[in-house]
Amino acid sequence: MTETCSFTIDGQEVTAASGTSVLNAASASGIYIPHLCNHPDLKPTGSCRLCFVSIDGGKPRMACREPVKDGISVATSNAVIQRMRVQVMELLIADHYMDCLACAAAHDCELLKISAYLGMRPNQLTRLGKTERNLPVDGSNPFFQFDPNKCVLCGICVRTCDEIVGLRAIGYIHWGDKTVIGAAGNRPFAESICESCGECVERCPVGALAPKTPAIPAREVQSTCVYCGVGCGIHVGVRGDTVVSVSGDRDRETNSGSLCVKGRFGFRFINHPDRLTRPLVRKNGELKESNWDVALDLIAEKFRKSKGRFAALASAKCTNEENYLIQKFVRVAMRTNNIDHCARL
Ligand code: FES
Repeated sequence: MTETCSFTIDGQEVTAASGTSVLNAASASGIYIPHLCNHPDLKPTGSCRLCFVSIDGGKPRMACREPVKDGISVATSNAVIQRMRVQVMELLIADHYMDCLACAAAHDCELLKISAYLGMRPNQLTRLGKTERNLPVDGSNPFFQFDPNKCVLCGICVRTCDEIVGLRAIGYIHWGDKTVIGAAGNRPFAESICESCGECVERCPVGALAPKTPAIPAREVQSTCVYCGVGCGIHVGVRGDTVVSVSGDRDRETNSGSLCVKGRFGFRFINHPDRLTRPLVRKNGELKESNWDVALDLIAEKFRKSKGRFAALASAKCTNEENYLIQKFVRVAMRTNNIDHCARL
């Protein structure tokens, strides 16, 4: 049985499993502590220096690296911590290209969220945002782009690719104030070992790694990815009848929010104008659009005439129940064992 600790954050009673960090325990209880480099899926590194808290009135400590303890009293801010956070933010923003209106992450940017939390003034942000870096944007990947001018070096992408994907396709390049994030070997992403799964894009807190065609959906629908037999849980973002985004379902045990390149980015076939939505029947060697009654009658007639020359290929895009029915139909109705299945599409 997991042991738990009870303590207070800003006077609010909180209970968390022992070993949980103060930051993750606070987030799980709906208490906000500013942070950039922490992600609940990853090991903490304590690199952004924004999550300072005071424990039992003591000196500032990093909430992301501080395990919860029974009976402690955590304060998420005081005058010293507030001043430290503003200074860290000023340095970060000074090196960050602030084209917020054109940024894919503007609706969900941690940098903007923290500056609003700290009460930083708009003119302060604009003045500090005049970066001189002007580094080239890597748009070589077909699905996402990387703008190093927006990167805050939180390292979440590096750790995601290492700890979750296990590929280490992203790393730190150069040293000191020249440090940047980049694809391993300092190559364009498209020429690196990156598999385009987009796990780093999903976790980037500031829009440095962003989808090439970002779109904010009007609503999200819970569903299951249709690409293979794993059955990853997804949230399908839609506007009207058009699918505009797909993200992983963190509550689905099969994938815990992770997706592959096809599941995350390969959704445009759904509304593609070339997609077949009506049956085609061949007449005089030419495929002509028809209706389902005509097409199904034709199929039934051909099945009847097949006389032992019949085989079926089931699909990973079908559910288990549909695949069960297909093999039952082939074996019982068509009296053959010629049934196979493609494990992956
Ligand atoms: Fe703790 Fe960045 S979240 S130092």
